[in-house]
Amino acid sequence: MRLKDKVIIITGAGQGLGAMYAHKLAEEGAKITIADINEEKARKVADDINAKGYEAIAIRTDVSNEQSTEALAKLVSERYGHIDVLVNNASIFATIKMKPFNEISVKEWDNLMGVNLRGVFLCCKAVIPFMKKKKMGKVINISSSTVFMGRPYYLHYVTSKAGVIGFTRALAKELGEWNINVNCVTPGGTKTEIPRDTVSPEQFQALINQQCIKRQEVPEDLVGAIIFLSSDESTFISGQTINVDGGLNLH
Ligand SMILES: NC(=O)c1ccc[n+]([C@@H]2O[C@H](COP(=O)([O-])OP(=O)(O)OC[C@H]3O[C@@H](n4cnc5c(N)ncnc54)[C@H](O)[C@@H]3O)[C@@H](O)[C@H]2O)c1
Repeated sequence: MRLKDKVIIITGAGQGLGAMYAHKLAEEGAKITIADINEEKARKVADDINAKGYEAIAIRTDVSNEQSTEALAKLVSERYGHIDVLVNNASIFATIKMKPFNEISVKEWDNLMGVNLRGVFLCCKAVIPFMKKKKMGKVINISSSTVFMGRPYYLHYVTSKAGVIGFTRALAKELGEWNINVNCVTPGGTKTEIPRDTVSPEQFQALINQQCIKRQEVPEDLVGAIIFLSSDESTFISGQTINVDGGLNLH
């Protein structure tokens, strides 16, 4: 029970890695809010967690919309009295179609940046005032280890995730005086229950061959870093990026 009674919001936790974090952090005693644009999936994850005897609620949230993120923060703080941890995990990711950069339309670019980058900003803007009141809090931003490689054919995505690292460093410097830690996690290519075409089976194998640890990354591999950064054991760590990719990239 390393996170007993901690109030934790996880955005984009209706499926994939976010849903895994929701389950595992709830099992550590946290009270989880699943904030996803897909309300049905968010409710299903919350129901599954509650059925196991842990605590979770679902709130339909569009992280790219300021009214929506403000409503999320207000609802959670009214229900629990405070907010301890924000995991900015929501992203346009599994739905991305790989293509040369000059075939990415301005609309696609703006939509993706609106979720992957503005969404992180808006969630922080809405939630951090509640953390400041308590002079304590933790923000965990999810970037991607693809930033260190610069893989082709999803330039908007890689750029957005590089932005998340810069955002993390700058915000960490601003919030230290309130004892608020802002850190970043960069997952490697991880198979979830959601099919996607950002990495083909051949590419997955080529990546594994270059990793220190030569096996496919699974969602459980990321949980330890998220629990650690949510817990009291990481209170002197801020502005950092923890790379969880089996040692594919060394940075
Ligand atoms: N799976 C990987 O290999 C991998 C690798 C590196 C980084 N990441 C990052 O980890 C995170 C989770 O990855 P995943 O594989 O579970 O992604 P995913 O695409 O399967 O899930 C993303 C979730 O975000 C939600 N979402 C999308 N737009 C939203 C919005 N406007 N408001 C609220 N929620 C919204 C979706 O409904 C979905 O539940 C993402 O930030 C992704 O970029 C994943």
